[in-house]
Amino acid sequence: MAESLNLPSSQNGTAVNREEIYRAIVPQVASIVSDEDDQIANMANVAAVLREALGFFWIGFYRNENGELVLGPFQGTLACTRIPYGKGVCGAALERKETILVPDVEAFPGHIACSSLSKSEIVVPGVKEGEVLFVLDIDSDKLDDFTKTDQRHLEKVVDLLL
Ligand code: SME
Repeated sequence: MAESLNLPSSQNGTAVNREEIYRAIVPQVASIVSDEDDQIANMANVAAVLREALGFFWIGFYRNENGELVLGPFQGTLACTRIPYGKGVCGAALERKETILVPDVEAFPGHIACSSLSKSEIVVPGVKEGEVLFVLDIDSDKLDDFTKTDQRHLEKVVDLLL
């Protein structure tokens, strides 16, 4: 396994965009997780990679334990440990079995505020054979910070963990 992450650097003062960052890290995530079968170990490294590469203030996993989401590996501040089915953005993604982008968390009915810093959020469920095994949750301190670009690449990352 590589000892450190390879990230694109800015050229001639042009900032690296998120698409380029994802393109660089997704193959590295594929390589990292292919060496290891333990899902929790892989989730821990994926949270660290996403944090280092993208810098969001909270990135982590909740695992589906008998219909309730239980906190798994994460990077960021103290978080709620259990989220019931259908509750909050994470519980809604568990119920709907699809990615949810929330441009403004205050406008999402039932949003669970683990941190007052959170302004927008994306939750990507890991679905295998029709069952949600876990969700990847990312919180941003900026409003409307997630797009279809994030969704597309984060769904690839989640697929690598299934
Ligand atoms: N905001 C989430 C709860 C988890 S924290 O953001 C880490 C939700 O509404 O499900």
